Order: sequence, then structure tokens, then C-alpha cells
Amino acid sequence: MKRIFVVGGAGKIARYLAPRLAKQGDQALSLYRHFDQEPALKALSAIPVYGDLQKLSPESLALLMDGCDAVVFTAGAGGKGGTATTTAVDGVGLEKSVEAAKLAGIKRFILVSAFPEAGRGRHISDTFEHYMQVKKAADVYLAATDLDWVIVRPGTLTDDAATARINTGLAIRYGHVSRDNVAATLAYIVAHDSINRVIIELTDGDTPIEQVLTPLARY
Ligand SMILES: NC(=O)c1ccc[n+]([C@@H]2O[C@H](COP(=O)([O-])OP(=O)(O)OC[C@H]3O[C@@H](n4cnc5c(N)ncnc54)[C@H](OP(=O)(O)O)[C@@H]3O)[C@@H](O)[C@H]2O)c1
Repeated sequence: MKRIFVVGGAGKIARYLAPRLAKQGDQALSLYRHFDQEPALKALSAIPVYGDLQKLSPESLALLMDGCDAVVFTAGAGGKGGTATTTAVDGVGLEKSVEAAKLAGIKRFILVSAFPEAGRGRHISDTFEHYMQVKKAADVYLAATDLDWVIVRPGTLTDDAATARINTGLAIRYGHVSRDNVAATLAYIVAHDSINRVIIELTDGDTPIEQVLTPLARY
């Protein structure tokens, strides 16, 4: 059984991920910051871990991560609180989480990032441009470490039901992807350590997850 520390553990992707991890015999430890989220996380088979990413130091976050096998980072400000909060959560929060993983001796780190083409071909706000810059800087930060990282760049997220059929690869056409398909992909990556040090783009597609992810593994 792997213990997976989920930063952004009360988020929508994370809520799909926790039961998927449980189903494959793994355990989500889900960071959350509002006490009323705790019962729902327990009901999803997660162990709720209270903490605010903006307030935690890398050292205190490392203590919360102690004993985990991997970190999944799927936190995000979601545009709330302006550019400063995006920087604090999606940017500095990611950097803190990486440093905390190192301090806790956790090698594996899986980051939910964003698809670079998001916003292409339409007029985007300064806020969205800032978000995309922060997301890319987070990818750069993680990829420069010697951790066993995987960066997943989903297309536009939907709440459609999971199909367990996706399109993924080093470079694919932009599209939508259901949060549950993202969660299923993350769970598959958690279970397969051989998928390592790779950036993958992700949309809904026609191919079963294992079939499309297996070629990305490094043996
Ligand atoms: N929307 C898209 O189309 C899209 C596309 C590609 C990638 N993404 C990325 O995918 C990520 C996950 O998506 P999602 O739908 O699961 O988002 P979500 O439901 O907004 O989840 C993000 C989680 O981060 C948590 N968070 C924010 N600030 C925090 C803090 N200071 N301390 C602890 N937790 C904090 C939020 O906590 P609360 O529940 O307490 O607010 C929330 O639960 C997004 O954040 C985004 O960066 C999004």
C-alpha cells in the first residue's frame, strides 16, 4: 500500500482520486483547509490532513507528509484572490511542497499542471496569462529537481463521467478532459513508478488508460 499525500486534497480532482487510490489498495492523505470538508473526505476513503498551504512552512508541511511514498499536487487558487493568491498557491505553494517532499525524504512527486495551449486563439485576461506563467514556472521548478517527478498537463477540465479512455503523450492536440479521467490517470501513474521524469499532455480520448500510458514508462 502506498501512502499518497495530496496537496489540494479537498479539490474536485482530488475527490475523484482518493477513492480510486483506495480501490487499488493505496491511501490518500488529503490536505484540506476548511473543517467542514473533513467528513466528505473521510467518506471518500481519504485521511484528512488539516493545513493551509499559504501558512505552512516547508518544514511544517514536511512533518505532515512524513511517512508518505509520493506527493500529488493538485492545488490551485482557481482565480480566487487575484494574481497574488495564484502566485502564493499555484507557484510558491508548489515550491514549498517540493521542498517539503525533499525534507520528508519523498522522492516521487506528481504535479497537475495546465495545458500550454489553454487560451490560445482567444482573448485572455491578464489574470489568466499570469496563471499560465505561474503554472509554467512551477513545471520548471519541479523539473529542475532530482526528484522522480511526473508533470500532467490536462486540457480544459469537465465534470463528465470517467470513460477511462484518454489521449495522452508528450505533445497532443488541445481538448477537454473530465476530472475523473485525470484522477484515473493520476492513480495509474501512482501505481507505475516506471512512468518517471516525463511531462504528459492529457485530454479525453479513445484509448484505454493503460494502453496509452504504457509506452511512456521507462524500464
Ligand atoms: N480548470 C481547468 O480547466 C484546468 C485545466 C488544467 C489544469 N487545471 C489545474 O487543475 C487543478 C485542480 O483542478 P480542480 O478542478 O480539482 O480544482 P479545485 O477543485 O479548485 O481544487 C483546488 C484545491 O486547492 C485547494 N487550495 C487552494 N488554496 C489552498 C491553500 N492555501 N491551502 C490548501 N489548499 C488550497 C482548494 O481548497 P478549497 O477547497 O479550500 O478552496 C481546492 O480544494 C487546478 O487548481 C488547476 O490549476 C485546471
